[in-house]
Amino acid sequence: MADLLRLENVSKVYSRGLLHAQSNVALSDFSLTLREDEPTILTVAGESGSGKTTLAMLLLGFTQPTTGRIIYRGRDISTLRGADKMAYRREVQAVFQDPFAVFNPFYTVDHLLTVPIQRFKLAKSKADARAKMEEALTAVGLRPEDILGRFPHQLSGGQRQRINVARALLLKPKLLIADEPVSMVDASLRATILETLRNLQRDHGVSIIYITHDLTTAYHIAKSIIVLYRGSVMEAGDVDTVIKDPQHPYTQLLVDSIPWPNLDQRWGAQPIKAREAGGGGSGCRFRSRCPQAMDICATEPPLFEISPTHTASCFLHHKQPEVAMERLSQLLPA
Ligand SMILES: Nc1ncnc2c1ncn2[C@@H]1O[C@H](COP(=O)(O)OP(=O)(O)OP(=O)(O)O)[C@@H](O)[C@H]1O
Ligand SMILES: [Mg+2]
Repeated sequence: MADLLRLENVSKVYSRGLLHAQSNVALSDFSLTLREDEPTILTVAGESGSGKTTLAMLLLGFTQPTTGRIIYRGRDISTLRGADKMAYRREVQAVFQDPFAVFNPFYTVDHLLTVPIQRFKLAKSKADARAKMEEALTAVGLRPEDILGRFPHQLSGGQRQRINVARALLLKPKLLIADEPVSMVDASLRATILETLRNLQRDHGVSIIYITHDLTTAYHIAKSIIVLYRGSVMEAGDVDTVIKDPQHPYTQLLVDSIPWPNLDQRWGAQPIKAREAGGGGSGCRFRSRCPQAMDICATEPPLFEISPTHTASCFLHHKQPEVAMERLSQLLPA
């Protein structure tokens, strides 16, 4: 069975200062396999600075890994050229946080949709292009006759964000990376946009990586979840299990901080007391904040298999079998 996109032990380190004196590990030894035949919705969750956008940029090929490889359909993306590169650019699409950023105020919405049609030569004629735009807008629950011909300021934030999704959809992607797609739209529209994403996965076979700091939306939309903290995987697995029965002290703190009855309250609105744990250092990244830290936590914990669909990187579970990072995806239900 074909792997669409695979990250193999990818790390991203940002260096600063004289002779790269300061380095910041934004993502550490991360592996993930996305299969073509099993469209799924995977949440990548974590607080600000945990490496979520870095992961998105890597998957999109907008930034290169410091170590490790990213493989698209069997080939390292850094070696892709010509038609293969175009196919990758088309099949892996993104929707970002800010529904305003991609709009040029001087052009109608049509322009935003026409550009990818031309660039990727998706239509044979003007009529065909129009039909494709209408199809994509309808798929995200917008009425083309209401939307086409309008300028960005004549649309609501939620409409704009759905046009962004429609734009990605035009290209018939295999994978959509949605980085905080609803954090800038109001609560009433959040559900609509998340529903749109879910329909894409269900009806159009698009896999979605839903990036968020908000566990409640993750719980509603995703099948599986990876919890990141400062570039490392803390816990991963079936979203229901991880959120209802978290096994990593970090995830437990996150879940405890959600005021569950009020699902509109955003995770991170009441940050857990942040302690800037000094830069690098070895061992568990969470240990300086961990209420259950032990001496052994000065060593980097591997992933431990809690169940066939649940893994946590914490020595509290040292009696469980270890899981190699490369096997992470196998513990995420499709
Ligand atoms: N271009 C860059 N140069 C230097 N450091 C960077 C760069 N981009 C990100 N970082 C650092 O990498 C770490 C991870 O950043 P990233 O943007 O991936 O976090 P995030 O999880 O998306 O956070 P947020 O929820 O705030 O969007 C942070 O410490 C950040 O400061
Ligand atoms: Mg981010």
